[in-house]
Amino acid sequence: MSAESQELRVVALVGSLRRASYTRRLVQALGILAPPELNIETVPLGNLPLYNEDAETATPPAQWRNFRDRVKRADAILFATPEYNRSVPGALKNAIDVGSRPYGASVWTGKPAAVLSVSPGALGAFGANHHLRQSLVFLDMPVLQQPEAYIGGIAQLIDPSGEVTRPDTQAFLRQFLEQFERWIRQQRLKVAP
Ligand code: FNR
Repeated sequence: MSAESQELRVVALVGSLRRASYTRRLVQALGILAPPELNIETVPLGNLPLYNEDAETATPPAQWRNFRDRVKRADAILFATPEYNRSVPGALKNAIDVGSRPYGASVWTGKPAAVLSVSPGALGAFGANHHLRQSLVFLDMPVLQQPEAYIGGIAQLIDPSGEVTRPDTQAFLRQFLEQFERWIRQQRLKVAP
């Protein structure tokens, strides 16, 4: 199998926990819009105990271990997030903190990533997108720079069945995912022996 046709496992981390989340609906829609070799799987964040260094013993919580293993096995991470008070929702920040420890064993280091921020408002969760990027710099993750993805007015862009209704938005998301796939493959070539 050539490197170009090899399936890529992308773990999607969705910053919203609510059942009817627009962000989660959009990530589900990406499964249809993505190139065939990009396999996007959402790993839930709602069951992760809040990060507490006291629990970082020889047997940390099973949910932390499971989460770290799933991130480690991924070829890349898609952070899909709404904005809470111009920043990242606590659930997503907690997941980032859980993955970053124990010290020296962060599961994020070198893992290619992309950020997709979502809001019913006009600004497309720009604040959350860039607060998140600040953490990703520190975590040493190569993050897709272009196209930037600030999805505003989401309530008008996706219907209750989870279909992206506007052709221009569909086209943008396809382009974003194609570029993400190229980016992941480029990063893998850099680390290949
Ligand atoms: C919000 N919301 C919001 N929206 C925004 O564009 N900028 C913001 O700073 C905030 N702040 C904020 C704080 C809190 C605590 C909540 C609960 C909500 C509104 C938010 O974008 C809206 O609820 C989205 O629908 C959340 O995304 P999901 O859950 O639909 O994916």
